[in-house]
Amino acid sequence: MNKENTPLKKTPNDHSIMDTIKDRWSPRVFADIPVSQTDLQSLFEAGRWAASSNNFQPWNIVWGVKGSKSYERIMNHLVEFNQSWAVNAPVLMLGVINTKTPDGKDNYHALHDLGQFTANMALQAHSMGIAIHQMAGVDFEAAKKEFEFPEEYHVATAIAVGYYGGDKNNLNEDLQGAETSPRVRKKQDEFIFNGNFVKRESL
Ligand SMILES: Cc1cc2nc3c(=O)[nH]c(=O)nc-3n(C[C@H](O)[C@H](O)[C@H](O)COP(=O)(O)O)c2cc1C
Repeated sequence: MNKENTPLKKTPNDHSIMDTIKDRWSPRVFADIPVSQTDLQSLFEAGRWAASSNNFQPWNIVWGVKGSKSYERIMNHLVEFNQSWAVNAPVLMLGVINTKTPDGKDNYHALHDLGQFTANMALQAHSMGIAIHQMAGVDFEAAKKEFEFPEEYHVATAIAVGYYGGDKNNLNEDLQGAETSPRVRKKQDEFIFNGNFVKRESL
């Protein structure tokens, strides 16, 4: 399985972008193909080379493959909606930040940096025919305790990972449509300002 098998969604881009960005999307079903440890190491390596404020690299990832205790422990901390579809994913992860700098000050950029890590991972994954689906719907306090992170850490996201190409019939009817619906974004003029911010009623 590789990216030639990736189901494409309509992405109505207004300007030219590279195919990896255009074609990436977040499915809720995944092919019945295991993601190997070597695959995962490539994803983590892509994340590892993300830029971060002061090169503090405040990101941490907890991961588990389906059938393992770690997978089950992550699954148990997803909100019910996410559990309903994430069960299709062969790998689950948590994205966790250290909210403090090495000298104990608040690191206001840690969440930003985890986002860069995850975006790198997503694009690397896509280039390998692997999809990732990030989730805010996770019981972050309970997950922090479950995996024994110290107080200053924050479980920001969960992430479902698997090869593209799952059967959308594994989803309830409401969610099936999202597997093929076009991707949607705000227009650039709603959030790009060559000067003062102009508040808009958008979407
Ligand atoms: C930080 C973050 C949190 C998200 N939380 C959820 C979630 O809890 N459940 C879910 O089904 N999708 C979640 N998503 C997926 C988004 O809905 C999805 O990325 C967005 O609709 C754009 O679709 P695309 O990634 O296919 O372009 C999340 C995405 C991000 C980046």
